[in-house]
Amino acid sequence: MPPILSSIIRDKIDPIDGASDAQLSAIDGIAKEFDLTVEKLSEIIKHFCNEMDKGLSKNGMTVPMIPSFVTGIPTGNEVGTFLALDLGGTNLRICEISFEGKGAIKIKQQKHKVTENLKAGPSHQLFDFIADCVDKFLSEYTEFVTVQPGVHDRKLKLGFTFSFPVEQTAINKGTLIKWTKGFTCPDAENKDVVFMLQEAMKRKNVPVIVTALVNDTVGTLLSHSYKDPNTLIGIIYGTGTNGAYFEDIPKIKKINFSDDSQKKMIVNIEWGAFDSEKKVLPLTMFDNKLDRESNNPHYQIFEKMISGMYLGEITRNILLHLIDRMLLFDGYSSKDLNRHYSFETEYLSTIEADETQTLDDTKKILEELLNIPSTTLIDRQIVKRACQMVGLRAARLSSASLAAILIHCDKVECGSSVGIDGSLFEFYPHFSARIKKALQELFGANADKIKISLARDGSGVGAALAAMLAAQK
Ligand code: BGC
Repeated sequence: MPPILSSIIRDKIDPIDGASDAQLSAIDGIAKEFDLTVEKLSEIIKHFCNEMDKGLSKNGMTVPMIPSFVTGIPTGNEVGTFLALDLGGTNLRICEISFEGKGAIKIKQQKHKVTENLKAGPSHQLFDFIADCVDKFLSEYTEFVTVQPGVHDRKLKLGFTFSFPVEQTAINKGTLIKWTKGFTCPDAENKDVVFMLQEAMKRKNVPVIVTALVNDTVGTLLSHSYKDPNTLIGIIYGTGTNGAYFEDIPKIKKINFSDDSQKKMIVNIEWGAFDSEKKVLPLTMFDNKLDRESNNPHYQIFEKMISGMYLGEITRNILLHLIDRMLLFDGYSSKDLNRHYSFETEYLSTIEADETQTLDDTKKILEELLNIPSTTLIDRQIVKRACQMVGLRAARLSSASLAAILIHCDKVECGSSVGIDGSLFEFYPHFSARIKKALQELFGANADKIKISLARDGSGVGAALAAMLAAQK
């Protein structure tokens, strides 16, 4: 039987030799649900642009379009040394960042794992842990931190990258709207994040003053602009996903910003929340199952279709569905595969990259890590196909939000630079190529004017830049 799917998945497709009609037709059906035509992408983009406009005019909208109060754009000539803290996923990162002018930067950094207990316990425990880590870093790594060379500050200035939705009211003030990415500390929502951190620093006698609070996308945008002043957008495709861009201040209708000397402000879109009403996103039963069973049902619907935290779980849902219909692994699952989130997004990466003839890397994951008793080549090809559907859809949806900002800012014709960070973008096979291909489908030759580059670890540097821009005022 010919591979039915080649016209459906917009990617290189390996045939599934010897699969039964029932298997092929089941996969074909699923692939159709995961397919995103350029027409569907355009519909999503249109809705995204409308939601951006709504978020800019009123508080409390689905896509919150949060003003960052970062108005300066780095010139690349700034000099000085600042501390930065980066909390937002698996690790807490503490950095001392020295800006040396002409885009040159020196970084010293330490990383600590944030345990599941800290993510779920009382917030003072999490913030005390952060203060302890900063204390350790200061005693092991830093010299005096200065605002201008030669001028010693008794209190070290710190930029805090906090990668969760925060209602920001000033550069150093903002209340947590809602945890994402598996954090659940129950008493932190609706509280000022800088205050909580500053109090912990006081409790632990750490001589640090938190002068700037930024989202990781804002940090990424700032750090990329330090190197490339033509940068319009900063994006994270990692455990979570989100974007930030430079907006004309008069277009942010919901704020009254009195400083006329400033023309642009960075807006943190918080696009993970896009279409939580499920109006345009093509959700499948596998997405709905994931959402229903998550610790934040009905929230972050866009993020749940795109980001690293969830792609493995969507795929696991597909595999279980096929197992239950006796179309995969002879109808057998394993204790491990039955466990929520056991199919890690890293497995998807490895499986998509598996070019061995008998899919040996895939076999290892399924049989050795997930303890499926035995797999056939057909099973493994089906698993690879499932991974491709999920990975390709994530990349195409990612292109939709990026395209929407370019349209919103009227930059399709003249092009722009985009700085992107995150494990998915950096390591997931074909992720960036798939985004570029979707942009070509949408914008034709103009897609070549969009300069997309990796902005590795940009958020730490960005937080330090925000601390510097705040200090300059
Ligand atoms: C958060 C955003 C963050 C993104 C990427 C999302 O879950 O809501 O604030 O920018 O993850 O880290």
